[in-house]
Amino acid sequence: MTLAEALRCAAKHLAALEILETSNPHLEAELLLQHALGFNRTQLYQRLRDEMPPDKETAYHDLVWRRLCGEPTPYITERTDFCDIELTVTPAAAIPRPETELLVEEASVLAGKRLQDTPSLTIVDVGTGCGAIALALATRLPSLQIIATDISPAALALAQRNAERLGLASSLRFLCTDLLASVRQPVDIVVANLPYVRSAEWKTLPVEIRCYEPREALDGGPDGLRVIDRLLRQAPPLLRSGAALLLEIGYDQGPPVAALASEVFPDAAVEIKKDLASLDRLVIIQL
Ligand SMILES: C[S@@+](CC[C@H](N)C(=O)[O-])C[C@H]1O[C@@H](n2cnc3c(N)ncnc32)[C@H](O)[C@@H]1O
Repeated sequence: MTLAEALRCAAKHLAALEILETSNPHLEAELLLQHALGFNRTQLYQRLRDEMPPDKETAYHDLVWRRLCGEPTPYITERTDFCDIELTVTPAAAIPRPETELLVEEASVLAGKRLQDTPSLTIVDVGTGCGAIALALATRLPSLQIIATDISPAALALAQRNAERLGLASSLRFLCTDLLASVRQPVDIVVANLPYVRSAEWKTLPVEIRCYEPREALDGGPDGLRVIDRLLRQAPPLLRSGAALLLEIGYDQGPPVAALASEVFPDAAVEIKKDLASLDRLVIIQL
């Protein structure tokens, strides 16, 4: 069997399994094959007509089998791409989603504008997980002072590992804390993609999420807003005048989160932003 044949065969099996949220079976089959062979994409495409080495055939079969059982590809390969950076991901943290890139885009624009008037700016990424948002911002705006917090020591250790691998460890401070509880310095911008799934919805989520991702990273309590609500109420004493908060939300949480924000910050401008699928995805609060 050639590599191309093995790839086609795996993609066919992945596509046939409808319970998986496989958005692109061919791409996932390819990522798993690259992982089995230790190749990058170019190396794989140069050698598609080669015969599959027998030991690699077994290894590839095992990886595809794990995927067919529901394990997400990023956990199998231990890597994912987010905003032009490659991150290590393990079940210690949720897998960064493409929707979250909107938060990074908006935060980069806001921070970039403010850096024109001030030499330094402190941003806190609350609930950093594997470090996706904090590290994407550090790559784009190296002069930012970034604090990344998480309540999970295992997630924070993973974020630190990612920062070291990307050569960004000196740009960030990591704090294991409940939201902003241990942050002591005044903050200019808060960014957060906190848990926002309603507890009752957990059992309806795809097997990839329900059986593999850490529930405490995604479950936002009965109304999905328990953690976001606490963050909004905890933030005021730490915020500099003119500060901003950018919060990722679920598609149906724009109005309730905007209402909460207006209750806590009556004088702030509150805006709901939609993602590429035209769904509410981000609430921006500017004091
Ligand atoms: C949806 S994940 C997002 C991870 C990452 N920011 C991203 O966008 O990929 C939410 C993260 O918030 C963290 N978290 C949950 N409750 C928290 C709390 N009270 N304080 C700090 N972090 C919390 C979880 O451990 C998890 O890593």
